[in-house]
Formats: sequence, C-alpha cells, structure tokens
Amino acid sequence: MNFELTEEQAAVRDAARDFAKNDLLPGVIERDEKQEFPAEQIKKMGELGFMGMMVDPKYNGGGMDAVSYVLAMEEISKIDASASVCMSVNNSLVCWGLQKYGTEEQKQKYLTRLATGEIIGAFCLSEPEAGSDATSQRTTAEDKGDYYLLNGTKNWITNGNSASVYLVMAQTDVEKGHKGINALIMEKDMQGFVVGKKEDKLGIRGSDTHSLMFSDVKVPKENRIGEDGFGFNFAMNTLNGGRIGIAAQALGIASGAYELALQYSKERKAFGKEISKHQAIQFKLADMALKVEAARNLCLKAAWLKDNGKNYATASAMAKLYASEAAMDIAVEAVQVHGGYGYVKEFHVERLMRDAKITQIYEGTSEIQRIVIARDILK
Ligand code: CAA
Repeated sequence: MNFELTEEQAAVRDAARDFAKNDLLPGVIERDEKQEFPAEQIKKMGELGFMGMMVDPKYNGGGMDAVSYVLAMEEISKIDASASVCMSVNNSLVCWGLQKYGTEEQKQKYLTRLATGEIIGAFCLSEPEAGSDATSQRTTAEDKGDYYLLNGTKNWITNGNSASVYLVMAQTDVEKGHKGINALIMEKDMQGFVVGKKEDKLGIRGSDTHSLMFSDVKVPKENRIGEDGFGFNFAMNTLNGGRIGIAAQALGIASGAYELALQYSKERKAFGKEISKHQAIQFKLADMALKVEAARNLCLKAAWLKDNGKNYATASAMAKLYASEAAMDIAVEAVQVHGGYGYVKEFHVERLMRDAKITQIYEGTSEIQRIVIARDILK
C-alpha cells in the first residue's frame, strides 16, 4: 500500500495552503463577525481552479482526483470554513452531480461556468419539515407538459443568495414516494423565485445560508436531471461524494485547531516552563494528533475508493462521522490549551470550535451517518 502523495497532489495541497494563508487568513475574523460572504476570495478560488477541481477539463474543470480535492479542502478549512463550505457544495454537490448525471446541453450551459467559479451553485434538498427525513419533500414540481411548476420552501441552503444556479429536489408524484421526486436546475432569475432570510448562525458565519421560496416558478423540462423520478437517487448518490467534502472540511478544522494548540503550547510558559512540557498538555496534544491522523486516513481512503471506481458510500459516511466528531473534540481541547486566550477571537480557536459544530449536522447528521454505516454492515 502506498501512502505517498504524487507530486501533483502535493502541489495542489501546497497551493491551497498558500492561498489560505495569503488570501483567506487576513480578514477571516472580521468576516466571521460581520457575517460577510468571502465573495472576492471565492472568485480567486475559481481562478486558481478550486471551484471545479474534479470536473473534466473539456467542461473547464481541473480534471483532478478526489484525493487532491480532500487535500485542498483540508488546507482551506484550516483557515476559513465559511469559504470551504461554498467550495465543497460547488465541487461535490453541484459540479459533480451535473457532470455525472447531466445532459450534454446542461453541462455546456451550466457546468462550464460553474467549474471556473464564474458562477456558483446551490444544492436544495432540506426543507422546514424535511431535514434528515429527506424523502418527505413538500416542495412540488407539477408536471405541466413542457415545464415543471415549482412551489414550496427550502431551508438552510448554502450559497443561498450568492448562487446563480440551484439544483432543486421536488415532489412530482406524491403517490410514488421517493420515486416521484425530481431534481431540477433552476436559475436565480426565473420568475417566482425569492431568496428568503439569511440565517444568523453560530459558526461558518461568513457562509451564505438562506431559506428559499418558490411560487409558480416555471422550470423547463430540459432542466430535469436524469429520468423522471430520479431526483431522490440523484440527491443520495451526490451526497455520498458531498460527505467526503464535508469530512475533509471537518479534518481541516481539526488539524487547524491542533496546529494552533501545538504552536501555542511551545510559546506559552506556566509554572516556570513551556506548557508543552507539562504532561497534562502533552496528553491533550497526543490525543489531538492521533484523531487528526485517523480522520485524515479515513478521508483519503474514501477519496481513493471514489477515484478507483469502487463503492464509497459507507467509507464517506465513516469519514464524515469520525472527522466531524474529531473536529468538535479537538477544537474544544484547543480552546482549553489556550486558556483565557482561547476564548477570545484573535486566537482563532474559538471560531474553529463554533465552525466545527456544523460538520456534525449538515450533509446528514452524525445519526444519519450511523444509519448509513449500520445499514451496510447489517445488510
Ligand atoms: N447512496 C445511494 N443511494 C442511497 C443512499 C446512499 N447513501 N441512501 C439511500 N439511498 C437510496 C436507496 O437505495 C433507495 O433507492 P431505491 O428505492 O432506488 O432502491 C432510496 O435511496 C431510498 O432509500 P431508503 O428507503 O433507505 O430511504 P430512507 O427514507 O429510509 O432514508 C436516508 C434514507 C439515508 C435517511 C436519507 O434520507 C438521508 O441521507 N438523509 C439525510 C439527508 C441529508 O444528508 N441532507 C443534507 C442536505 S444537503 C446539505 O446539507 C448541503 C449543504 O448545504 C452543506
């Protein structure tokens, strides 16, 4: 087994690390405080190829593997998880979903622009009464012959206002249950679409999370992804890859918090020596390093399975579950290592602690990941 990165993969990781340090770190505290979307930084991420990393170059993508995507996500998430959730949704839910299941016309029209970050996309599954229970979609897409009439509400949509293109899951035939759901590509300026309120969140405060309202929005039939009734399977298959992205985001939060704690412990003195020389702190650092290593290996394994055409649904659920719990544990401990300084904004760990929590909630809660894993081991 070869754990070595290729030269290309290492170069992608280094480029993401430099970008995060030079372009995301300045202003990250202020953006978090003001809930400001990193629009300029996302534009630059597009120019650098981070918004459509795995898209085929013939659709303007980077043609990279999922391992490179994990490496870049980790580096960007260490510094700014608000930027990385935008990146993750665009790459693994929107671009990947369109590349895998879209028609050639849909790819030419949308994917070519999404892959460069010229426009960004949103993935609209969650509803006020359908979060974990995703089959209970209330949003409807009534079949009107050559178009669908979209009505309903979506909640907690990442890139909700900044997106130009929305992949919307909606129920066409309620009798058919999840087989009656369709996935539609909706454009922001379609009549009847309204962006609702921006959520005031605990963490990832720079990300752009909104509710969305659809009132008689006419979506042309050619904007349906896949066959009639394929929408739920589209969402599930796409989320399997999305979970690798969020697992890598959690890994970045975990490794970012660990690295800050490690550095601080070598600088801060107490009781006549650096706190890293106290066993109480060493035990914490050792546990953090172990969890980061385990999370990274799970993320890279899931990505490797995807790159090699193997089933990665369970591996991505395991990576997301473990990495998100590690992120939460490590961020809390990193605050503790920093003592009072950990509780104030300028030392970054309090933000990482707030950001960590969402990774246990979105793209399937920790409980959903356990369901996915249990179903596989018990089948
Ligand atoms: N991969 C592929 N297909 C899957 C799947 C998976 N992981 N899980 C379920 N399916 C398929 C099943 O095979 C089945 O297909 P067929 O009928 O063709 O055989 C179909 O989906 C229905 O499956 P179930 O009967 O098992 O469905 P269920 O109602 O019992 O629940 C669930 C399935 C796993 C709980 C699912 O509802 C789920 O994953 N919920 C979580 C939803 C979620 O992750 N939401 C995140 C929102 S997006 C987001 O957060 C993005 C963002 O902004 C950051």
